[in-house]
Amino acid sequence: MPAIEDAGDDLPSTAEKTLFGKYEVGRLLGYGAFAKVYHARDVRTEQSVAIKAINKQRILKGGLAANVKREISIMRRLRHPNIVRLLEVLANKKKIYFVLEFAKGGELFAKVAKSRFSEHLSRRYFQQLISAVGYCHSRGVYHRDLKPENLLLDENWNLKVTDFGLSALTEQIRPDGLLHTLCGTPAYVAPEILSKKGYDGAKVDIWSCGIILFVLNAGYLPFNDPNLMVMYRKIYNGEFRVPRWTSPDLKRLLSRLLDTNPQTRITVDEIINDPWFKIDYKEVEFHCDHLELKDDEYDSPTSTSTSDNLKVMNAFDIISFSSGYNLSRLLDDREVGERFLSTASPEKIIEKVVEVAEGERLTVVTRRESCVKVVGGHNCNFVMAVEIKRLTDELVVVEVRRIDSEVGPGHHIWKDKIRPGLSNLLYKTGPASCR
Ligand code: ADE
Repeated sequence: MPAIEDAGDDLPSTAEKTLFGKYEVGRLLGYGAFAKVYHARDVRTEQSVAIKAINKQRILKGGLAANVKREISIMRRLRHPNIVRLLEVLANKKKIYFVLEFAKGGELFAKVAKSRFSEHLSRRYFQQLISAVGYCHSRGVYHRDLKPENLLLDENWNLKVTDFGLSALTEQIRPDGLLHTLCGTPAYVAPEILSKKGYDGAKVDIWSCGIILFVLNAGYLPFNDPNLMVMYRKIYNGEFRVPRWTSPDLKRLLSRLLDTNPQTRITVDEIINDPWFKIDYKEVEFHCDHLELKDDEYDSPTSTSTSDNLKVMNAFDIISFSSGYNLSRLLDDREVGERFLSTASPEKIIEKVVEVAEGERLTVVTRRESCVKVVGGHNCNFVMAVEIKRLTDELVVVEVRRIDSEVGPGHHIWKDKIRPGLSNLLYKTGPASCR
């Protein structure tokens, strides 16, 4: 049986093949401009998965090779009940395969196509959508291509948004920080994309959520016309009419979502406080465990343990410490790290970290003699591991590793809260941080 990775450019949709000896690939679930999605079964666990095969050339064309690893690392950390999980990424010469959680219930819009949803059901799915979108935005991840094909259902008929972060792999970011290039299905495209002036990923996602909510409630698109130019004009001018069965509160929310001006368009925080949205809204509770830095990541391969379990820096550590702080072997793409010297005892340093963290209502998930792990922040988007290594009898090195979003509130937890709280104990001797 030929391995699927040896197949030609287009993977056959029917024949059963094994991908990297791990996944038995079955039927084609769907395809887009540059990707095909297959159903597959994990050979070991028999679990169903979806495999999205993307042509590598398509991704790397825009000189984005360096971004791909970073984006994948971000996507792998997205864990939310309404987001399709990225389980694994595999690659061969030609393709990248994203192994995704399988959403058994199929596309949400297949259900809307049969008949429009009640206001109650529209609200339920819209709440799940906003919960997923808000979670990603707080981590600096934007979808930018929210459309019916990306809205799936699980076996309990809960919403699962797919492809979060994927569009970033195929797009360009201009020096002004705005995302560029036209993307998305015309009917779901925000007016600022049509004007091709560059756009803010968060704002265009909110617009698409507005279109989705409209369709759930109405059963048809707000901006539609057989003539594409007429359709564009309607979008650009925000010309839409809600159906007569729409309640005044929902009508008000739709007009705020489909505001053609991105500057005044409603934000996620405002949506969550909207009277129509708030009814029966249950915020998703997050368990932070999945964000933990793994225990084995604590141990640098070049460190040795002493009898009191405190790591002693060896020659390699000292050299790398004194010559420009190359922490890259310690950090993955989403982590930032800093090292400090201290004359304080490890117990004192750990004690202080715990004190400051608890004062900031963070959770201490691990506390040991020479290391401590802390998680918390908005949607648990802050994870910090502090490890202490003895340098001399009087001196220790304190390594601080974090995962947080540069744009999210988690970023400030270290900078404004924890770091100042430790200032009496730590001495900074080199560059402030590295990525
Ligand atoms: N179609 C596209 N992605 C899918 C997924 N993750 N599960 C089920 N069907 C899909």
